[in-house]
Amino acid sequence: MHPDAQIVTDVRHWTDRLFSFRVTRPKSLRFRSGEFVMLGLVGDNGRPLLRAYSIASPAWDEELEFYSIKVPDGPLTSRLQHIKVGDQVIVKPKPTGTLVLDALLPGKRCYLIATGTGIAPFASLLREPEMYERFDTVILTHTTRDVAELAYGADLIERVKNDPLVGEECEGKLLYYPTTTREESPKMGRITTLLQNGDVARDLGVPPLGPDDRVMICGSMALNLDIKAICEEAGLVEGSNSMPNTFVLEKAFVG
Ligand SMILES: Cc1cc2nc3c(=O)[nH]c(=O)nc-3n(C[C@H](O)[C@H](O)[C@H](O)COP(=O)(O)OP(=O)(O)OC[C@H]3O[C@@H](n4cnc5c(N)ncnc54)[C@H](O)[C@@H]3O)c2cc1C
Ligand SMILES: NC(=O)c1ccc[n+]([C@@H]2O[C@H](COP(=O)([O-])OP(=O)(O)OC[C@H]3O[C@@H](n4cnc5c(N)ncnc54)[C@H](OP(=O)(O)O)[C@@H]3O)[C@@H](O)[C@H]2O)c1
Repeated sequence: MHPDAQIVTDVRHWTDRLFSFRVTRPKSLRFRSGEFVMLGLVGDNGRPLLRAYSIASPAWDEELEFYSIKVPDGPLTSRLQHIKVGDQVIVKPKPTGTLVLDALLPGKRCYLIATGTGIAPFASLLREPEMYERFDTVILTHTTRDVAELAYGADLIERVKNDPLVGEECEGKLLYYPTTTREESPKMGRITTLLQNGDVARDLGVPPLGPDDRVMICGSMALNLDIKAICEEAGLVEGSNSMPNTFVLEKAFVG
């Protein structure tokens, strides 16, 4: 058994491109909600094949949850998508990342802006009690191409609302804004467009993005750069672990 091996305790397939799974938690792993770790499988050459994965469960959870893409010819996920309960997955107990509450200054509202699997770090943060202590309003936006790709997020919101730890605290504070871009759904459009044309503020009954807001961004490189520009136009400044400020971002994948 690899020294960093953990045991799979649950697997759930959401679509033919997306699945989530839970594993036992390494005893030595301490992390802040929103961080990522290196995760993988032992390759054919006997060496670990690792990729960055956001931890989708909060820091207080006794297991770890992950939400993953299935890339048909991806070196890791072409195999990882076949894991079953009882299998071993390698989790390196060295968490890192910028999508952490420590990197944000206090504010009124906190936007969590995700596309695709970029929702994973926010699944962790939304079950973190500190999220609701720090902000009056927490807004999760999740944009995917198709309706089926929203399912993990919709289920997450139900889990958060029924969570014994944060269920009550998030009442009246948590707003969920799912949108699709390629398949018909109640709210269609790219989140960039919907922020800029005022739809988000109108639909949610909040003021337009401004200095009282805090933003966490997790999507493709293009999404991150476009939202970053929107944040900067609204007077927000990128923060980091060493220099907290008013918005932070992280790539959901490389490419
Ligand atoms: C900081 C960070 C955190 C990440 N967290 C997650 C996570 O929580 N869940 C997750 O599924 N992936 C995550 N990734 C991506 C992950 O590291 C791998 O790229 C992914 O598991 C695919 O691995 P692979 O070896 O099968 O294919 P790769 O060779 O790694 O990727 C092949 C191609 O597939 C596309 N791709 C890869 N990952 C994704 C994705 N998540 N969404 C859409 N397209 C993708 C890209 O075009 C990429 O070039 C993260 C990446 C980074 C940098
Ligand atoms: N084989 C398949 O069935 C299949 C299906 C989907 C994706 N893919 C591949 O998988 C990879 C990732 O796909 P993905 O859908 O997970 O991620 P993605 O391409 O990043 O798209 C996720 C969501 O983000 C939106 N988006 C992308 N760039 C944006 C930007 N700059 N500003 C605002 N919104 C933006 C997309 O809108 P738009 O729709 O307007 O781009 C989409 O709704 C891609 O390489 C894609 O080719 C394959």
